[in-house]
Amino acid sequence: MTVLSPDESQPNCSFCQKRRDEVLNIVSGPGVHICDGCVELCVEAVAEAKKGKLTTRARELPRPREISAFLDTYVVGQERAKKFLSVAVYNHYKRIRSDDAAGRSADDDVELAKSNILLLGPTGSGKTLLTQTLARILDVPFAVADATGLTEAGYVGEDVDAMLLKLLQAADNDPRKAETGIIYIDEIDKIARRGEGPAVSRDVSGEGVQQSLLKVLEGSVVTVRPHSRGAGPVQGSRSRAAQDGLQLDTTSILFIVGGAFPGLEEIIEARTGTKGIGFGGSVRSRQERVAENLFDGVIPEDLVKFGMVPELIGRLPVITSVAQLDRDALLRILTEPRNALVRQYRRLFELDGVELEFEEAALEAVADQALSRGTGARGLRAILEDALISVMYEVPSLEGTVRVTVTEQTILDGREPLLAFR
Ligand SMILES: Nc1ncnc2c1ncn2[C@@H]1O[C@H](COP(=O)(O)OP(=O)(O)O)[C@@H](O)[C@H]1O
Ligand SMILES: [Mg+2]
Repeated sequence: MTVLSPDESQPNCSFCQKRRDEVLNIVSGPGVHICDGCVELCVEAVAEAKKGKLTTRARELPRPREISAFLDTYVVGQERAKKFLSVAVYNHYKRIRSDDAAGRSADDDVELAKSNILLLGPTGSGKTLLTQTLARILDVPFAVADATGLTEAGYVGEDVDAMLLKLLQAADNDPRKAETGIIYIDEIDKIARRGEGPAVSRDVSGEGVQQSLLKVLEGSVVTVRPHSRGAGPVQGSRSRAAQDGLQLDTTSILFIVGGAFPGLEEIIEARTGTKGIGFGGSVRSRQERVAENLFDGVIPEDLVKFGMVPELIGRLPVITSVAQLDRDALLRILTEPRNALVRQYRRLFELDGVELEFEEAALEAVADQALSRGTGARGLRAILEDALISVMYEVPSLEGTVRVTVTEQTILDGREPLLAFR
């Protein structure tokens, strides 16, 4: 490559066709020439690509099997949901990348539609954890929003903005990066229209919120104004972003919408004619029915009957569910995931040079108690915290403690764990 001085030959820039005497400088390679202006443009384009899209494009997209295997390291059970989510998420990012690569190729007549996901299932069974872990493996920005907190009036106002603002913050305020992110909207069932029938219902507030979500889910350009909570624009910030707002296109954002949908199983049963009768004609409890994961058989009409606006359900083409966690799953959750509670507590004690031990029967008792609380794996932490609070308080001051053993009685009768000294 040679840099030509003005008096050498007079090539045009191969990119913008300007002549040598119209530009500051031209750099020539074998058969091509580029002017200083085009070099600058290239540098900008590369920087732009590095900032946003490239982070998700350059790396290889993990395949559904890899995604599912990664989920396995954090989430116990829920195999069906893992499979659905892995495929849906893989397809979503594959679609984004093909759009990027082909520039939404006009000659391609197969348009890949956006596939937001509806995730049903009881509380504390791993819905939030699954979506969070998905964002982690894909290394994309992630935000959780609560549907109950969204504006009631049905305006695409403050609260839908707030959801996008959270995502933007998770993307280091880079809108291009945020546009590749995942938003999990929890408790969508809480904004269901109560009572069936469009005309009679007076409770339209939930419906209004659902309406306000439609456009965002489908994909629209929303202006997000970074501001401090409650107050006006960020103090002293003179950035254009703060004043005019940032444009965020929600087309490529993956929305996963979750909810417990209490009562949905009755609607499904009424339709399928399996009303509460199990083997031998015995009436099954709600617990038993949820454990069977009746949600697997859900169809969009059931959700409309539940009170979801048909248009909203229409924008959630992938529907999957998590099952109620049983005793065995709760037991495994205590010890198996990479950041399992027992591992975390062990590590905490280890930092004080103390070994923490759980009797097998103690772990089983923890699982039993969590099961009876009916809040899935949510109860586990509270039960362990309760059992360990006094030793966590005392042990750091007790010279020579080498081991703490949590026994079955610690969990069942509140007896103190056993201490062993040097
Ligand atoms: N299947 C699971 N595997 C491992 N941990 C779980 C599982 N389900 C729930 N948990 C634990 O319970 C807590 C609550 O779970 P979460 O995902 O918030 O439930 P949900 O969103 O379904 O109400 C999480 O912090 C997680 O540690
Ligand atoms: Mg949740």
